[in-house]
Amino acid sequence: KILILDFGSQYTQLIARAVREANVYCEITPYHKAVVFEPGLKGIILSGSPFSVNDVNAPEVEIRELIGKVPVLGVCYGAQLTAKQFGGKVEKSNKREYGRAYMQKIKENVLLNGMSENSQVWMSHGDSIKELPEGFELLAVTESIPVAAFRKNEGDGVLYAVQFHPEVYHSIEGKKLIKNFLVEVCGCAQDWTPAHFITDTVAALKEQIGDRKVIMALSGGVDSTVAATLIHKAIGDNLYGIFVDNGVLRKGEFEQVLKTYKDNLHLNVKGIDAKARFYGELAGKTDPEDKRKVIGRLFIDIFQEEAANIEGIEMLGQGTIYPDVIESVSVHGPSVTIKSHHNVGGLPEKMHLGLVEPLRYLFKDEVRRVGRELGIPDELLDRHPFPGPGLAIRILGEITEEKVKLLQEADYRYTTGLKEHNLYKTVWQAGAILLPVKSVGVMGDERTYEYTVALRAVTSVDGMTADWAHLPYDFLAYISNEIINNVRGINRVVYDISSKPPATIEWE
Ligand code: XMP
Repeated sequence: KILILDFGSQYTQLIARAVREANVYCEITPYHKAVVFEPGLKGIILSGSPFSVNDVNAPEVEIRELIGKVPVLGVCYGAQLTAKQFGGKVEKSNKREYGRAYMQKIKENVLLNGMSENSQVWMSHGDSIKELPEGFELLAVTESIPVAAFRKNEGDGVLYAVQFHPEVYHSIEGKKLIKNFLVEVCGCAQDWTPAHFITDTVAALKEQIGDRKVIMALSGGVDSTVAATLIHKAIGDNLYGIFVDNGVLRKGEFEQVLKTYKDNLHLNVKGIDAKARFYGELAGKTDPEDKRKVIGRLFIDIFQEEAANIEGIEMLGQGTIYPDVIESVSVHGPSVTIKSHHNVGGLPEKMHLGLVEPLRYLFKDEVRRVGRELGIPDELLDRHPFPGPGLAIRILGEITEEKVKLLQEADYRYTTGLKEHNLYKTVWQAGAILLPVKSVGVMGDERTYEYTVALRAVTSVDGMTADWAHLPYDFLAYISNEIINNVRGINRVVYDISSKPPATIEWE
C-alpha cells in the first residue's frame, strides 16, 4: 500500500486515483496524522498544498523520519518542503508559474525513465526551489524554473521530488512517472485489480458479518447495487434488500431494476409499492425542502417497518464510497466532508445496527470497474446519478400522480433519445423538469394551453461544479418534437443553459 499525506491540495484525490489506476492500493491521510509503518506500507507521497512552505503556519511533517522507513515522493509543495527541510532555498517566484511547461532531463534516472525529452508537465505554484540542499541531485529543469525534479543522493533513505503535478491529466506522461515510483522505486506489485478487490472484500465481509443478518436499502443506483452484490457474495440470502417505490422514480424503473436484482444478480430483495403513501403525504406540499423531508422521513418509516418484520437484523449495509469519507485538509484547518444527501442518514444509530460498507475505500470509477467484474449489467452501471427524492424535486411546486406521469413520459423520451444518439455517456447527468407554467400553443387548428418541460444536461466530475452540456442543435430539435408530439399535456420544451455555480443541477 501507498500512503498519500494530504497537505490540502485540490489535486490530492487525483494522486490517489493515478496510483489506483496503476493497480496499486493507496489511502489518503491528513498530514498531521501519525504514519503507521505497517509491513504492507511500500511508500509515501507528499501532496501539494495551497500554503507556501515559508508561511508561519505552513503544514509540516518530519520528512527525515519517513525516508528512513520507506521511499518518499514529494509533489509540488511536497517537493518544496523537502528542499526546505534539508537546507535548500525556496523563494517566491517573480511570477506564479501556472499551466503547461516542458521538462528537460538533466540526468537519466529511474523516476523519469521512459518519459520523452520536453515532456509536457503541469505546474501550479507560487514559490520556486532556487537552490537544492547538499547531497541532492538535480534530475530535470524547465525553461522557466531551475529545479523541476530532484532526488536525495547521499545518506540514508530514498527520496524523489517533482515541482510539477504528475497526477493531473495535462502532465501527459505523469502516469509513467507515478508508475516508475510505485514499481521501480517502491517495488509495488500492481495487483490491486477489481478481481483482487472482490476476493479480498468478500473474505473480509464474511469475517466481519459472520452469520448475522444485514438489511440494506437498494435504489437501483451504482453504489448500492455493487455494495449489495458484494455482500450477497459473502453472506447470500442473509442480506435482505429493500427497494421502495416512492412514486417518483422514472418510468418503468421500479419493475426493471427489481427484475435485474432478482433475475441477473439473484439478490434477496423485496420490492415495496408505497406510491399511494408518498402521494398522500406529498399532497399540498410545494416547498422543496418540505418535499425532501416528507420523502426522507417516509422512506425511513417504511424501512424500519420492514426491518421490524425480519427477525434478528443486526447490521445495515450502505454504499458509502471513498470521496464521502476522506478527511480533507482545508486551508482553514482540517475538516471532515460528508455528503449530506444520505437517504438513510441517522438510521444506524437509531436502529442500533452495525455498519457494513464494502465500498468505503473506492472511487466512483473503481466502483464501476468492480461492478463490471461482478457481472452487473452495463445499463445499471452507466446510469446517471439520480437524486433520492427523485422526480419530486423535478416537478416544481405541488406533486400529483398526473404530473408524475407526464414528467415520466417526457423524461423517458429524453433519456431514450440521448441513448439512441450516443449522447447519454457524454453527459454526467441529464433529466427533464416539469415547470408549473402553462402557455399557449397551437396544434393543428386547435389552440392548446399546456405545461412546459425544461431539459437539463450537464458535464461534471463530481457534481460539485457543472457546466451545461452543449448538446447538438439537431438533437435538441429532434427531442423537442419527440416530446411535444408524443406527450399529451406538454406543448413547449426549453433547454437549461445555466452552469453550477451559480445555478444548481436540480431545479429544486
Ligand atoms: P445540485 O442540485 O445540488 O445537485 O447541484 C448535485 C447532485 O446531487 C443530487 N441531488 C440529490 N441527491 N438527494 C440526493 O440523493 C437530494 O436531495 C439531492 N439533491 C440534489 C443531484 O441530482 C446532483 O447529482
